[in-house]
Amino acid sequence: IQADPLRLKYHIQPQMGWLNDPNGLCQKDGVYHIYYQYVPFYPDLGSVLWGHVTTEDFIHYHIQEPAIYPDSEWDQNGAYSGAAFQKDGMMYLYYTGNVRHTDRDYDYITDGREQNTILMTSKDGFCFSEKQILMKNEDYPEDLSRHVRDPQVFCENGHYYMIQGARDLDAHGSVLLFESDDLIHWTYKLRFCTKEPFGFMWECPNYLKVDGQQFLIVCPQGIRSDGLDYADSDQCGWFPLRYDFTGEDYELGAFRQMDRGFDFYAPQVFQDESGRWILIGWMGRPGTEYADEPTSKNGWIHALTVPRELYVNAEGRLCQRPVKELERMRKPGVAETFENGFDLPVSACFELKLRFEKPMEEFELKLRKSVSLYCRDGVLMLDITGCGAGRTMRGVRIGGIYSLQILSDTSSLEIFVNDGIEVFTTRVYGSMTDLRVKMISKRARGQVECYPM
Ligand code: FRU
Repeated sequence: IQADPLRLKYHIQPQMGWLNDPNGLCQKDGVYHIYYQYVPFYPDLGSVLWGHVTTEDFIHYHIQEPAIYPDSEWDQNGAYSGAAFQKDGMMYLYYTGNVRHTDRDYDYITDGREQNTILMTSKDGFCFSEKQILMKNEDYPEDLSRHVRDPQVFCENGHYYMIQGARDLDAHGSVLLFESDDLIHWTYKLRFCTKEPFGFMWECPNYLKVDGQQFLIVCPQGIRSDGLDYADSDQCGWFPLRYDFTGEDYELGAFRQMDRGFDFYAPQVFQDESGRWILIGWMGRPGTEYADEPTSKNGWIHALTVPRELYVNAEGRLCQRPVKELERMRKPGVAETFENGFDLPVSACFELKLRFEKPMEEFELKLRKSVSLYCRDGVLMLDITGCGAGRTMRGVRIGGIYSLQILSDTSSLEIFVNDGIEVFTTRVYGSMTDLRVKMISKRARGQVECYPM
C-alpha cells in the first residue's frame, strides 16, 4: 500500500482499507484529534470503527490506535459517525451505534435496524470510558424511519443541544433537535426542515455560528440534478439559519452546495482553541457510478480533505480556505506577474495561487495533461474526462473569476474559487509525468504564485 504512487502526500488516508466521514473533530490541550470512519479490512466486510490521527500543526500527523470499536450489542454493525463536545477538561464523544437485525427479511428503512445514540467520554482522546447508551429507536419521534444518526452536540444560551440527521416515514429528510441540562438526558424539541421536501434523508448535520451568523450544514440524499447543480444525488451544503433556541420558530434560508467537485461529502466542523471554525470533509462520496476507485485494487480507498478555515463573506456566504498552517509546506517556487497567460513546470504536489487584475469570464487553465479548468461566459467547468475513473465534467455559473487557489496532491485536487465562495474537490488519476500548469488566455493578466509541496 505504501508503495502505491497514488498515495497522497499531505492528506489523511487510511493505512489500509476504507475510510469515510471525519468524526469527533476537536482540539484538546493543543492537540487536534481527527477520528474517521474506518474499515481496515475492506473489501472484506467488517463493521466500521473509528480510526484516529492526531496533529499539532496540520502538517505532521501521528497515526494512533483506532479509538472506538463496534464491540457492544448497541453498535455491533458499526460505530457510525459522531462528534466531540468538550466541557471541564472532558471530551464527550457522541456517535450512532448501528445494529442490523438478520432474523427476518427487513427493508432496513422502517424496520430491522437500530440507531442508538451512544456516549463515550475521555480525558485525553486516547483512553475512553465505558459506552453509555443515551437514546434508542423508541426515543426518536414516532413518525421517523429507522434512519436517525450522526449526532453533534453544542451549547447555546447556557443549554446543551444535540442535532441528528433523519429520514421520516414519508421519506423526507430533516434535522432533529434535542435539549439537555446534563449532556446525558435528552429531550426532543423540534426538527429543522425545508417547506418543500428536499431529499429523503439528511445525513451528518453540523450547526455553527460564524461571526454571529448561524448555519446548518447537511448532506441531503436523493436530490435530483438540475443543470449544473446537484450533479450527484447525495449532496452537501448549508442553509443560513435563524433560530433563538427558545420557541418553535426558525428560518432556513436557501440551500447552497458546499462543493462542485466529484469527491466531497459528510464534512464536520469544529471550533479550535483559537476560535477558528475548521472544516474537514470526506474526499469521497457514497453511491456514485465512479465509486470503483483505482486505489482499491492496491488495498486502500478514500481520504480526507485538507483542513479548511470557514469564514463569512460580505454577502453572508459561508466560504472555505485552506488553513494558514499549510503555507509552511511550500517549497521555494515562483511568484510573478503574468500577461497573456503563463506556462510553469510542476510536480504532482503543488500549490497554485492566482489573482487576476480584473475578473475574467474567459480563460483556460491546464493543470495536468487531462485536467482542464476553463471559464466561458462566466461558467466555470472542471473537465477531467481524460483521467478516467468515471469522472467527467462539473461546473458552476459564477460570473467573473478574480482568484484561484489550487492544492494538488498526487491523486487529488482542491480548487478554491474567488476566495473560497465555490470549491471543487476531486480525486484525479492520470499521468504524473512532465506536468505543467498552463494558463491560456489572450487577455488574462495578474499575479501567479506556484510552490512545490
Ligand atoms: C455518511 C454516513 C453517515 C453514517 C456513516 C456510516 O457518509 O452514511 O450517515 O453515520 O456514513 O459509515
